[in-house]
Amino acid sequence: MRLVKLEDIETTKPFDCGDSDLNGFFCDDACYYHEQMIANTFVLEDDTDTIAFFSLLNDKISQKSVPNNLWRKLRKNIPHRKHFSSYPAIKIGRLAISKKHQRKGLGTTLLSAIKQMSINPTSPLSASRFLTVDAYVAAVPFYEENGFVKLVNIAEGDTVPMYYDLKQLK
Ligand SMILES: CC(C)(COP(=O)(O)OP(=O)(O)OC[C@H]1O[C@@H](n2cnc3c(N)ncnc32)[C@H](O)[C@@H]1OP(=O)(O)O)[C@@H](O)C(=O)NCCC(=O)NCCS
Repeated sequence: MRLVKLEDIETTKPFDCGDSDLNGFFCDDACYYHEQMIANTFVLEDDTDTIAFFSLLNDKISQKSVPNNLWRKLRKNIPHRKHFSSYPAIKIGRLAISKKHQRKGLGTTLLSAIKQMSINPTSPLSASRFLTVDAYVAAVPFYEENGFVKLVNIAEGDTVPMYYDLKQLK
């Protein structure tokens, strides 16, 4: 098994996570997103299959988009010397594990890798305090299990915005 950047792969190997949107993104859109500098995709593969992929892009968490009680919770570990109305983040645009590898701890392992990549980039260019994700409702327990916190009091629609405070890793 190896983790590689999508642009370093000559031909992608078959992938099926059971979700047509995520499968479609991997097959049709991920290269375009990289070319247009909108999101970078990383692929976990073996000699025959794509086992998982995730895409990362820049983001921010803005006070105006977060209910007051949750904003206070998010800021509780940030010293009050200065007040910021938004904080920089790295967004997990997509994360998917192939059907036959789900519920074996791989998603958790990849989230740990993303957390480490986010605080220890090879060439640090800009700062990010948080990871963010718009989690599928069904995947919320997975992200909560991995330390993510909801950014809404009541979920609306198919996804739930969530964050992880990277400072706890330092
Ligand atoms: C959601 C997903 C990324 C999780 O990855 P995974 O490798 O299957 O998850 P893990 O084995 O690391 O799970 C760790 C824990 O998270 C929780 N969890 C994971 N998937 C869950 C689910 N579908 N429902 C409820 N809890 C879940 C469980 O507590 C699990 O521990 P357990 O298996 O001992 O009960 C993966 O199942 C997947 O790609 N699903 C299809 C696409 C998708 O929903 N992507 C997320 C888009 S936001």
